[in-house]
Amino acid sequence: MTDSLWYQDTVFYELYLRAYKDSNGSGSGDFRGAIEKLDHIQSLGVDCIWILPHYPSPLKDDGYDVADYYGIHPDYGSLDDFRAFLAAAHQRGLKVVIDLVMNHTSDQHPWFQAARQDRHSPYRDYYVWSDTGREYAGARIIFLDYESANWTYDEVAGQYFWHRFYSSQPDLNYDNPAVHEEMFNIIRFWLDMGIDGFRADAVPYLYEREDTNCENLPPTHAFLRKVRRMMDEEYPGRVLIAEANQWPQDLLPYFGADGDEFHMCFHFPIMPRLYMAIRRGNKQSILDILAATPDIPAGAQWLTFLRNHDELTLEMVTPDEREWMWQQYAPDPAMRSNLGIRRRLAPLIDNHKGKWLILNSILMSLIGTPIVYYGDEIGMGDNIALPDRHGCRTPMQWDDSPNGGFSPAGATYFPVNADAEYGYQRVNVAAQEDDPNSYLNATRFLLRVRRQHPELRQGQLIMLGNDDPAVFGYWRVLGDRRTLCLYNLSAEAASFSLDLRHYVGQQLVDLLHQGQTWRIAEWPIVIRLRPYASHWLHVRSET
Ligand code: NOJ
Repeated sequence: MTDSLWYQDTVFYELYLRAYKDSNGSGSGDFRGAIEKLDHIQSLGVDCIWILPHYPSPLKDDGYDVADYYGIHPDYGSLDDFRAFLAAAHQRGLKVVIDLVMNHTSDQHPWFQAARQDRHSPYRDYYVWSDTGREYAGARIIFLDYESANWTYDEVAGQYFWHRFYSSQPDLNYDNPAVHEEMFNIIRFWLDMGIDGFRADAVPYLYEREDTNCENLPPTHAFLRKVRRMMDEEYPGRVLIAEANQWPQDLLPYFGADGDEFHMCFHFPIMPRLYMAIRRGNKQSILDILAATPDIPAGAQWLTFLRNHDELTLEMVTPDEREWMWQQYAPDPAMRSNLGIRRRLAPLIDNHKGKWLILNSILMSLIGTPIVYYGDEIGMGDNIALPDRHGCRTPMQWDDSPNGGFSPAGATYFPVNADAEYGYQRVNVAAQEDDPNSYLNATRFLLRVRRQHPELRQGQLIMLGNDDPAVFGYWRVLGDRRTLCLYNLSAEAASFSLDLRHYVGQQLVDLLHQGQTWRIAEWPIVIRLRPYASHWLHVRSET
């Protein structure tokens, strides 16, 4: 693998700056604080940090409403602080990817302010307007709990403007070449600063066309390929990541027919199916989505995750499956948001260590590049009393001192979680440091084993055929290296026989449970799996 393909073989850490570490007592995390905590990030064994939007913003959508693409939100520091963060991360060998919000701006952005005030302003055409608000009726509403239309009438402008998200986030008009120019300037500005790439937000929605659902349109792909071409020519080695919450067959075009669009795409549909599988004790949902996942071009890669800063999205499941997921994982309606579930990983799985290990082991060995969402490495909880998606964005819990060591301020942007099970008094980094069985050390351990075993990252994926719906297994094979990843998804013990006749005379070493080794002397071997067991069985010659 050449250096320019670094992103194919990494682990990402998703960092929400506001929540991470407050260096100046403002009650909000900032870049200087995040610098103090780079040791923690590095200690996990991740390779790349993805930071959520850091731009000046009225924060109606937590920074995904950008008011200035060239700046830093004053709560987070200055451009110098950003540079210092980048340099400190790079010094540790950590890459940094930032969010690029291309589809829309904040309504506070000077472009929109100028546009709404003057029909003849050159900025008017930066946005999408209508006299009737009836166009593009085929486009769905994404923030269903908050918006009733994709058009909002603006009194000042005297027209309706188009928005796929909050009405405080007017969509940019990509039919206007000046918008392309602006985006290219923004992209160059941050790449010149030395960042390693972009997570491009909400890319399916850049263009609108009548009689379509206004998603994944050909001119959208054409523009995105233009961005990629420029990056390849001017900034080789930097990565472009698509946030496109779509079915696998609709995602494939985002890689480009010749691998000439995005380097990476989030694989959204697999995520809810991991939760389905472990709740049902049945692997079928995972097998189905893997079967529906196309091969991707050389040089491309999937990004996979268990949780992120948004609701656990249920857009990519059937209506019946969505109902079932809501019943199982969000029995309280307050846990639901839009088409999803606003809870964190640990509470979703009832803080069950076995389930945590299965989900994380699958994440670290199945396909693609995994992402760890800040706080999930210590099993942080959520706070559904907070609005929107903020319940999963509470301050990082560093220790059991006031505010969990996050901030010396009297009041923080949102309260540090202090509930009985997941509060900072019990769940924090310091408490987990010396506990070999903690989530923190389990995260480090999984990442270390993944790093030591290239087959887990790059190997061919071969599903294990067996009849027990609860026993989920796959081989990862790279050259003569092979590891069988094996899980019991149910609360019942399981046993099945495995034909390893080709490996007689060799050993099976369980990478997840150190010291457990079996000689392969006969076949079939009968393997017994405890409830919710995880094993990574590596074949090794006895010498
Ligand atoms: C996707 C982001 O992850 C989400 O947080 C945001 O609200 C929307 N895009 C709109 O930018």
